[in-house]
Amino acid sequence: MVKIAVLVSGGGSNLQSLIDAVESGYIKNGKIELVISNKADAFGLKRAEKHGIKSLFMNPKEFKSPQEYDAHLAKTLNASGINLVCLAGYMKILTKEFIDGFNNPIMNIHPALLPSFGGKGCYGLHVHEKVLEYGAKVTGCTVHFVDYGADTGPIILQESVKVSGDDTPETLQKKVLVYEHKLYKEAVKLFCEGKIKLEGRIVKISGEN
Ligand code: GRF
Repeated sequence: MVKIAVLVSGGGSNLQSLIDAVESGYIKNGKIELVISNKADAFGLKRAEKHGIKSLFMNPKEFKSPQEYDAHLAKTLNASGINLVCLAGYMKILTKEFIDGFNNPIMNIHPALLPSFGGKGCYGLHVHEKVLEYGAKVTGCTVHFVDYGADTGPIILQESVKVSGDDTPETLQKKVLVYEHKLYKEAVKLFCEGKIKLEGRIVKISGEN
């Protein structure tokens, strides 16, 4: 059984889709053990509580630096035997202390087709604003492993979404989010089934060419 921890800072609709996927049996070999937030009022924490999942608010103010915070976070996750961390709207830059300190893979979902519209300043509604400003005709979402860079890790799955002439950042965000909910649970399912292998920065999925 793969023990999953989800890190959230906000609404946690992606967390909810993972919870639902585990509860419905779509994800069979995984269990969400723990939800952690850097924000006391993150609705994601409430979602976890409602489903009997252990939730934890880790207050950044109680640590001397982001590095200390991250080292403690990694230690907490390792001590709980977590095999996979899923970032789901976690709005805190991860330091090397977390990436090096946590023993297992970390996944993230990004609301665009990486490597476009990722990195610095590309979060929340800004991503969709940039897509529209650029005039891209297609956007989408990406699930990837986390490395030291911002949105630069190996790509696991992507899904495209058409941009319409009358889209606003808000409508685009809403459209993309629907696909995010499908894509993240698919990636986690594949991981839990042991079907994801990494060759350099290339993700190979068993049963696919
Ligand atoms: C999603 O768009 C995700 O791609 C991004 O942050 C947003 C989180 O939304 N990383 P939610 O909290 O899961 O509803």
